[in-house]
Order: sequence, then structure tokens, then C-alpha cells
Amino acid sequence: FKIVVLGESGVGKSSIVIRYSENQFYPDHISTIGVDFRVRTITLHRTGKRVKLHLWDTAGQERFRSIITTYYRETNAFLYVYDVTNRYSFLKIQDWLHEVNKYSPEKRIEYLIGNKLDEKESRQVSQEEGQTLATQNKMSFIETSAKTSFQIDLMFQSLALQLVHLFENDPKFSSSISKGIVPIHSKWKQSCCT
Ligand code: GTP
Repeated sequence: FKIVVLGESGVGKSSIVIRYSENQFYPDHISTIGVDFRVRTITLHRTGKRVKLHLWDTAGQERFRSIITTYYRETNAFLYVYDVTNRYSFLKIQDWLHEVNKYSPEKRIEYLIGNKLDEKESRQVSQEEGQTLATQNKMSFIETSAKTSFQIDLMFQSLALQLVHLFENDPKFSSSISKGIVPIHSKWKQSCCT
């Protein structure tokens, strides 16, 4: 499945992806240039199905906006990340939702993620506010910390389950889901192997 991670610069998008794919955290992680890509294959609890997640980590800086929209096509899930200690990053989520609505497919899963929960004493966005925004936009909501890894695995497990559920009967995915193989995105095939 193709998963695109969006949000303002510095909210912790790369840190979430790195925590999940490598179980590492870098306190001085440098800003992403354009788009970064990582893969993790997981086995779902209960069903035992194996699912390959293609994680597209985008740059939050304004100057990369036009490049990023070109990656929206054929995306199965969007993760909108804000920093719970930065109100501006939360307010800007509306803009990201608007952008995605313009460019991406109808059938998709969306998550709102409030990151940096370990800095609770500096909180500027309450859990209730996050939940309300998510409910209004029919998104799942979770608060995480890439630093402590709080709820990172849980979020991706839950996302993978929802993806399998939503796309199980989709001809593009159904046969490979039952075999535990997810097809390589044709665009990725080209860029990875040439
Ligand atoms: P861009 O690449 O510029 O879009 O930023 P980003 O959203 O990918 O943020 P990044 O992961 O680079 O993290 C920015 C800074 O926040 C880094 O110094 C991270 O170490 C820090 N950071 C990320 N996640 C957390 C977290 O959960 N808690 C704390 N305390 N710091 C975090």
C-alpha cells in the first residue's frame, strides 16, 4: 500500500517514519528535501496476513509543495501530522486536507496524528481539539511520540488493518492480499530499477 505522510516542517514526519522503519530517533534530524521513501513489511495481528507498506515521507517546507502533489496519485492512505506543541502546525492541517481533496483518489484512508506527545508540558493543542478535527473530516485520530515511540506501532498496525479491509475486494489488491504479497506500484518499479 502507498502511504503519504504530510504536514508542516518540523512536526516529526520523518521521525515517525524512521521510528517505525528502523526503530531509531534522531534529536537533530535534518529537514527532508523533496520526498523520501521507506518500506516496511508487517504481519497483521490476528489474521497473520503480511502487508507491505510503502512510506512516502514528504518535505514540509513551502518550496517543495508543487513537487509533493505529484506523489498524491494512487495513494491508499494519507497521514496528516501536526506537533501538539505547535498550534500553527495544527491550524495548517486544513490546508493539507484541501490540497489532498484537489488531487487524490476518493477511496483512501486518512489519519490525523498529533506528534511530540512526550512534550506534554508545552502542549498547545488539546486532545479534544485533535479528535474534533478528525471527526469532522472522517479521519482516524491518534497522538504519538516518535521520540519515545509511543503509539507508533499501534498506529501503523491499525492503519494496515484498515487498508486491508478497505481494499480487500479491490481487484488490484485482492489476489495478492490473500497470498500475502502486495504488487509493486508501477511508477515505483520504474524509478527504483532504472
Ligand atoms: P521536514 O522534513 O522539514 O518536513 O520536518 P519533519 O516533519 O520531517 O520533522 P523531523 O522528523 O525532521 O523532526 C523535526 C525535529 O523534531 C527533529 O529535531 C526531531 O528530533 C524532533 N522530533 C520529531 N518527533 C519528535 C517527538 O515525538 N518528540 C520530540 N520531543 N521531538 C521530536
